[in-house]
Amino acid sequence: MLGLGNRLRAVLNEVRGKRLADIGCDHGKVAALALLQGEADFVSAVDISPNSLDKAKKLAKKLNLLHKMEFLPGDGLTPLNYEPDSVVIAGMGGNEIVKILSQKRLNSRFILVAHQDVFVLRKYLQQNGYAALKDYAVEEKGKFYDIIVARAGESNYSDGEIYVGKNYPQSSVFIKKLKARKRHLERILNSADKEKLSSDIVKEWEEINNVLQD
Ligand SMILES: C[S@@+](CC[C@H](N)C(=O)[O-])C[C@H]1O[C@@H](n2cnc3c(N)ncnc32)[C@H](O)[C@@H]1O
Repeated sequence: MLGLGNRLRAVLNEVRGKRLADIGCDHGKVAALALLQGEADFVSAVDISPNSLDKAKKLAKKLNLLHKMEFLPGDGLTPLNYEPDSVVIAGMGGNEIVKILSQKRLNSRFILVAHQDVFVLRKYLQQNGYAALKDYAVEEKGKFYDIIVARAGESNYSDGEIYVGKNYPQSSVFIKKLKARKRHLERILNSADKEKLSSDIVKEWEEINNVLQD
């Protein structure tokens, strides 16, 4: 019932403090496990979809965790009426996560996993005074995910890192991810109408090559 893959296990490992908000909680597994494992004492489960929130509520009921949770329907950070110690925003695109981060300035520890357009998220963090405390890759069933832990502070991405990540803490998954991503980008570069290619794709491909050549 509560099996987590590498992606959500990494997310859970990054939770700190007593109060956690899981934005876009969907199934509610992160919330439930954070409480069961003592990573948090209280969780605000937020989702824009009433069906998703229901799933999270049902799971919490089954596990007798309702008294340690609140279930907030709504958009991103807007339903929160306090500052959580940790905030998880995972399983959305980079543009959606940026939209959510811009709703409210919180001094929380953000655990962010964008399933696409990660560079958009990194650019936002860089330009809006967030320090990336960690940025590393995990692999799950042949797919790669970037786990970004950020907090309000001095921005610390280099131009190249915006596209490839930091590999901090270091792991061999990073190079594996870059090689897979390079193959994917080359398929796009070789098949697409060159006029329509976004400069970000070309830049990402160049930055990956810079790292792989080192
Ligand atoms: C793909 S699921 C990810 C679930 C879980 N966070 C994970 O990473 O496995 C995305 C969830 O985010 C919710 N969602 C999307 N945009 C949202 C927003 N702006 N505010 C709150 N929830 C949102 C969706 O309804 C859905 O339940």
